[in-house]
Amino acid sequence: MNSVVVGLQWGDEGKGKVVTYLSRKYDCVVRYSGGSNAGHTVDYGQFKLVHHLVPSADLRLRKGMYIASGVAVDLSVLLQEIEQIENLFPGSSELLQVSKQSHVVVPFYRELDGKIDVARSEPVGTTRRGIGLCYANRALRFGIRLEDFEEEQSLEKRLAELTKVWNLQVDTKLILSQLLDMYRRLSYLLIDSVEAFEKLRDKDLLFEATQGVLLDVDAGTYPYVTSTNCSSSGVQAGFGFPVRLDKVIGVTKAYTTRVGEGPFPTELKGEEGEKIRRLGGEYGATTGRPRRCGWLDFVLLRYAVKVSGCDELILTKADVLNGFERLAVCVAYDIDGVKVRDVKNLRNIHKAEPLYEEIEGWRDLGSLSFERFLKRIEQETGVKISHVSTGPKVEDIVEL
Ligand code: IMP
Repeated sequence: MNSVVVGLQWGDEGKGKVVTYLSRKYDCVVRYSGGSNAGHTVDYGQFKLVHHLVPSADLRLRKGMYIASGVAVDLSVLLQEIEQIENLFPGSSELLQVSKQSHVVVPFYRELDGKIDVARSEPVGTTRRGIGLCYANRALRFGIRLEDFEEEQSLEKRLAELTKVWNLQVDTKLILSQLLDMYRRLSYLLIDSVEAFEKLRDKDLLFEATQGVLLDVDAGTYPYVTSTNCSSSGVQAGFGFPVRLDKVIGVTKAYTTRVGEGPFPTELKGEEGEKIRRLGGEYGATTGRPRRCGWLDFVLLRYAVKVSGCDELILTKADVLNGFERLAVCVAYDIDGVKVRDVKNLRNIHKAEPLYEEIEGWRDLGSLSFERFLKRIEQETGVKISHVSTGPKVEDIVEL
């Protein structure tokens, strides 16, 4: 069985923990999109791990992990993360493989990412991890792939070409030697995509998306999006081979958050938003930026369920709202004086005035009012909730 876990909001839904929990039922966890802009936090109880590039498989169970060619690989981040997992779970990096056809985030991409973003009249608020630059250079055919490191001379030429095209005054020789050093340390993990596919084709694969459907470069709130197809539609291209997906598992929080700029109809700018941020620890796992917080938005959730082909839902962070007397959900928008329950695109989302319905809060997740909240989500989306996350740790999850 092959499944994909996607975020149904603007990322940070708790996909990391969900993937770690679900990985016990699969042979291998595959990352197919994004890069070190992602930050998947996994709380094992005694310690927490933040995954930026290494797939969030349960490291205690020694499952396979594969970084496919659709991932933008920052070699320094990957090395740091490998060191971290090796310290906690010696030998675990032997279970990891990285496609030689994946593109590399060259160090100066990060700086360029920031420069480009501030040059916009309305910045996107990127994570400054150089991810957009990596995919842009891939599309422009100036990108550098891991397989290019096999021929040092041609790599040098490509690097020089890249600095010329971006008009950079940098020490190419130094960058080259740093990159080569990192590449050599990682070489034991590298594999051609075709070989990886042959090894994985008869296995049960769990595809781990990054970000969320609303940040998908095509389906999301463009231009306030990331630079890949981080929704389920990106699996085939990011993995590099046709793969039959048996299940699309969508993860949503009981409220909504967003980090970076862009429209957010249900954002709570006052005290209530602060309270959710504080109780939910809503700070970016990659950048530490405070996340914008707001109520659950059924209009966007229905949209995300539709475009991702979501088959089942996993609800996270409902425990953060325990004890809230007043809760609200957005049931429709007012756009230019017209009531809209479902949107066909996100073009006018910045004009949307949320129409709320107050709902009864719950004392804890055993409360009847929480059960009613779950039913309400199922009714609004037409999709069953299969699991509810009850706390931050991997084991804090209940199958319904
Ligand atoms: P980039 O992916 O760094 O180019 O950033 C583009 C947008 O996506 C910004 O609004 C980021 O804050 C957002 N973003 C990128 N990765 C994540 C993530 O893992 N979680 C939440 N937001 C993200």
